[in-house]
Amino acid sequence: MVVGLYLHFAYCRTRCTYCDFNAYSEPDAVDEQRAYFEALLEDVRRTGAERAYTVRTLFCGGGTPSLIPATWMGELLEVCRTSFQLDPQAEITLEANPGTVDQSSLAALRQRGFNRLSLGVQSFQDELLERIGRIHDAQQAGQALDAARAAGFENVSLDLIYGLPGQSLADFQADLKRVGELRPEHLSAYALTVEPNTRLEAQIRLGEIAPPDPDLQADMADQLAPFLRPLGYRRYEISNWAQSGRACRHNLIYWRNRPYLGLGCGATSYTDGWRTRRILHPRYYAAALAQGRTPVIEHERLGLEGTLKDIITLALRTRRGLDLARLYRRYPVLPDRVEGFLDGLPRGLVRRQGSRIRLTGRGRNLANVVFVELLDTLLTSV
Ligand SMILES: C[S@@+](CC[C@H](N)C(=O)[O-])C[C@H]1O[C@@H](n2cnc3c(N)ncnc32)[C@H](O)[C@@H]1O
Ligand code: SF4
Repeated sequence: MVVGLYLHFAYCRTRCTYCDFNAYSEPDAVDEQRAYFEALLEDVRRTGAERAYTVRTLFCGGGTPSLIPATWMGELLEVCRTSFQLDPQAEITLEANPGTVDQSSLAALRQRGFNRLSLGVQSFQDELLERIGRIHDAQQAGQALDAARAAGFENVSLDLIYGLPGQSLADFQADLKRVGELRPEHLSAYALTVEPNTRLEAQIRLGEIAPPDPDLQADMADQLAPFLRPLGYRRYEISNWAQSGRACRHNLIYWRNRPYLGLGCGATSYTDGWRTRRILHPRYYAAALAQGRTPVIEHERLGLEGTLKDIITLALRTRRGLDLARLYRRYPVLPDRVEGFLDGLPRGLVRRQGSRIRLTGRGRNLANVVFVELLDTLLTSV
């Protein structure tokens, strides 16, 4: 089976105020880091022994995988190569925090086989970075990209967040200008979301920080296309822009509803219509693997509704959109409802070309509204 492989790294130097990912402040003891890492290696070996998997994309995400020494990461890639059929042309991505890399660590990672780097920059304004608890400043972010280039990375992505506390429209325009100077091959630009149980949520609740202003965030989102298009970036997914041929192949696997394996604590896999999830906490995950127990704690068979919901929302996030003819062949009860829904949509949200529908620029900004209504229509018909 051909799959995308995601490996989860649980630790960060410190937690950023806005983040609710399954990430933990790094343990003081190296032993504990290593115990988690050993568990991940074991998970890779065991999963590879279960079935013949061909891996076309490998994504090390987190948390902060760039905290792990390059020698360990090399060991991990070797174990992946012996456990899976790792395509020699595979896209192999490492998520990195700019405060944790330098040219020699990046060169070592490049040499061991990583060929794509995704840098969490968030903003190029020091004051904003400090306010959201980042461990690096703007200069370090630029240096990390230069170091990546010098280390031989030809495929680099930056993450930006807009709508940060105290961020003005001019601040975000300055961030985009900096992107124009640095010219990464790929850019992810996320609207800040306030997640439950984060420090940011508490700060807002206590009145220390104003909640993000949706109108300002919409104005910021409107800056993206006019700025990025002339520089050759295409928006291939709601929050993702890439130069030609540089869309993230791993993320496209999720959006196209193709099978993937997620190993590491809290990671999700999707194969044969089943979704499985692993133990959330790194310590319990590591203990399970060390004791020879399975780290899988949840199996969910995606029924018709679940599959349909995934196919539609994921496909509509992408530039390619959704192939209605294919969907109707698979679900013959759908056409009347879907056509009725499309006719009833306000103009300018969805574009139809042959049997495909896509969200327009405006549709993407209102994607959640379109999704909710479309799913309501569809799910009452299955
Ligand atoms: C795992 S992190 C990237 C690597 C590394 N941990 C770092 O932060 O530098 C994934 C990305 O998700 C985005 N993100 C996380 N929480 C977010 C939130 N609440 N709102 C918007 N974007 C968020 C950030 O842009 C972040 O870079
Ligand atoms: S944004 Fe990245 S560095 Fe910050 S807490 Fe989340 S995963 Fe860790």
